[in-house]
Amino acid sequence: MKDIERLTNGVRVAAVVCNQWGDSGKGKLVDWLASEWADVVVRGTGGGNAGHTIKVGDLVHIAHTVPCGILNPAVMNIIGNGVAFDPRGVCEELEELRAKGIKYSGNLLISHNAKLILPQHLVMDRIREAAASGGEKIGTTGRGIGPAYTDHYARVGLTVNDMQNKDVFARKLRRNLKDKLVLLEKFDRGVVEKVMQHPHLEGGMFFSREGIFDVDAIVERYMEYGRMLGGTITDTDKEVRDRIDNGENVLLEGAQGHMLSIDYGSYPYVTSSDCSIQGLAKGAGLEDIDVQLILGVVKAPYMTRVGEGPFPTEMGGEASAKWCSTHTRKEEEEDYPNALIDDSNEFVQGVAVRRAGGEYGATTGRPRRTGWLDLPLLRYAMRTNGSELALTKLQVFDDVPEVKICTSYVYQGPEYLCGGRTLHCGDILDTATPDIDVMKHCKPNYVTMPGWKGPTADIKDYRDLPENLQKYVHAIRSATNASIRVLSMGPERNQTIVV
Ligand code: IMP
Repeated sequence: MKDIERLTNGVRVAAVVCNQWGDSGKGKLVDWLASEWADVVVRGTGGGNAGHTIKVGDLVHIAHTVPCGILNPAVMNIIGNGVAFDPRGVCEELEELRAKGIKYSGNLLISHNAKLILPQHLVMDRIREAAASGGEKIGTTGRGIGPAYTDHYARVGLTVNDMQNKDVFARKLRRNLKDKLVLLEKFDRGVVEKVMQHPHLEGGMFFSREGIFDVDAIVERYMEYGRMLGGTITDTDKEVRDRIDNGENVLLEGAQGHMLSIDYGSYPYVTSSDCSIQGLAKGAGLEDIDVQLILGVVKAPYMTRVGEGPFPTEMGGEASAKWCSTHTRKEEEEDYPNALIDDSNEFVQGVAVRRAGGEYGATTGRPRRTGWLDLPLLRYAMRTNGSELALTKLQVFDDVPEVKICTSYVYQGPEYLCGGRTLHCGDILDTATPDIDVMKHCKPNYVTMPGWKGPTADIKDYRDLPENLQKYVHAIRSATNASIRVLSMGPERNQTIVV
């Protein structure tokens, strides 16, 4: 039996989610499963904030809202009802696909019920972040995600369907703008105008000196998008169910990571959708019990975080967090041309890991904060996303003398009541709690293991991996009771081992 057949034996619906803070390599795994198994790939959460890198031979593609099955001509790609949909961003993505010679016509469907991102969402996102001070800043991607989902729950949101009905769109748009205008009137008009000059806001096309937003310009532009995308807009919930009933293999593509989930993550330093299997299934038009295989993706031996918020195993701690929010990749390359992963200075170690793993935001280009694999956090994510894991990026640590794993935390904060338990300084936590007032006081307990000799990227069979790497994988398995199903040893489809 082929490797992938062993993995998907008896599976009709599978899902790929991240058990960390995102950027763990979901895109590669989705593309791999799409090339060998899936008939349909469905995105259910997030939007243009995601950046999923796919590499097939010489072709490198970064998908943002369009599902990662798009490089496979035989696969239907569906943007589900739970997605925050920015038509400008999606049209740009489609244009990029066209320019690369990738055919998508007939391979893409968009839910009529996906939540529409409007210019005011991008403005609110950017202005709020710019005005935030100290701990109020989230470090968002500036793609309007939070404000769009907020409007949905505040019952003033618009959907993709509205782009096809001009009068309804205009009425809902005016209603939606009311509360935004009250807030934006308080800001310096010059600042608002500057924000609205951004290319993501069509270079000022929607700005009006009198009313801040030129309603007619927004209506016209969104009607144009409605016409451009019209043939792809449909009831995708029904489509997904019908395809399952017809015996097709359906793959759900997660975005971001469990610790960024609005419901399970390190709130408020999260995104605004539920990145867990539950949110993903719902946003794809299904229930989590419909999914027979959930691959929880775990980057190891290191992990990353982008944006603000606690990160207990961060290499270089606060200095790293600050550096990443204030420096660019270019500056880092100039300042640390020869950083080594086994440097005795943890901050430099973090820089070296970032450089070795290419850990710079696929959407924003920001340096990603780097830290050691955190098992308390993984145990917490596995409660919701289940025990089947895919480990990724292991090859980045080839030839590093030692690797560390965080096996538990020591709580080092003041007495604090959390979830019915009073925490005291010195308490040991095996499983993370996403409460940031706990997490920011958690110091990791590490075990150190010997590293392994590379190169490992092109090894195809688990038994051929260096013994120390197998021991490392086994250590994760036995410390979490996980079932490790897949190891991704590089960005290419064929750099994948089914365990
Ligand atoms: P937003 O989703 O743009 O509102 O950003 C909220 C938080 O989620 C910020 O810390 C972002 O850095 C983080 N975030 C959003 N999307 C991604 C992603 O795809 N990878 C990693 N972090 C993300």
